[in-house]
Amino acid sequence: MWLAPHLAILKSATLIFSQKRVGRLISRRVEALADDKTVAMVIINPGNPCGNVCTYQHLKMVAETARKLGILVIADEVYGHLAFGSKPFVPMGVFGSTVPVLTLGSLSKRWIVPGWRFGWIVTIDPNDILHKSGIVKRLQSYLEICADPATFTQGAIVQILEKTTEDFFSKIINVLGETADICYNGIDEIPCITCPYKPEGAMSIMVKLNFSLLLDINDDMEFCMKLANEESVIVLPGMAVGLKNWLRITFAVEPSSLRDGLERIKSFCLRHANKQ
Ligand SMILES: Cc1ncc(COP(=O)(O)O)c(C=O)c1O
Repeated sequence: MWLAPHLAILKSATLIFSQKRVGRLISRRVEALADDKTVAMVIINPGNPCGNVCTYQHLKMVAETARKLGILVIADEVYGHLAFGSKPFVPMGVFGSTVPVLTLGSLSKRWIVPGWRFGWIVTIDPNDILHKSGIVKRLQSYLEICADPATFTQGAIVQILEKTTEDFFSKIINVLGETADICYNGIDEIPCITCPYKPEGAMSIMVKLNFSLLLDINDDMEFCMKLANEESVIVLPGMAVGLKNWLRITFAVEPSSLRDGLERIKSFCLRHANKQ
């Protein structure tokens, strides 16, 4: 079962779709892809687009593989802590003594301010490899030429970080758990789409389109365009994340609007159903 394109190797950024039985298989595929120009592996956890959450064992395997290859790990944890299933969120940084880790974080997800472009990079590197190799210096000089976040975001950031209470975070996780359930169960009622994996984190779910049940729609892009025109519901065509004929549905939506959106997708599918 495909879970997520959450593991990539920075070469020409090849995506590896992690499978349910992870571990040695991933490790062997990454080793086969790596060459002398490979500098890092990227892991997105919790994952966008499938909402998967990596276990401690999975991350340990990633760290050990990177160590064996002599490369660093870039951990995209912009959805960090947004885990509501059976697996707890484990930061990649706990393996910093096995392999140097660059962790990416962002305000937009955990603090629910989409569009506020404010992020950070944390180095977890007790053996000082990133300093000694000049990577930290390079990162700092790159940041000097990047656009700064908007001034109002910079003005608000101190208060946001200092004053957001634990209540806020637990409420967000509860809401995401609830909306993930609504979405997963709602999709079950829609004939032309199936969801092989219930998200355990992040904010989106991947579903597969069954074109044999649809009369006049031929691919994911056409599905999304017609759905937007006819029902004013926006979902992402899978081709945008490398999965043609899948759809990415975001469930970071207020429950009543989410139910309404799912009903509209259902009506749309019934209207375009192959009646034969
Ligand atoms: C996996 C992942 N990383 C990074 C980002 C960028 O986050 P932002 O620009 O909102 O801080 C996103 C945004 O959707 C994302 O899904």
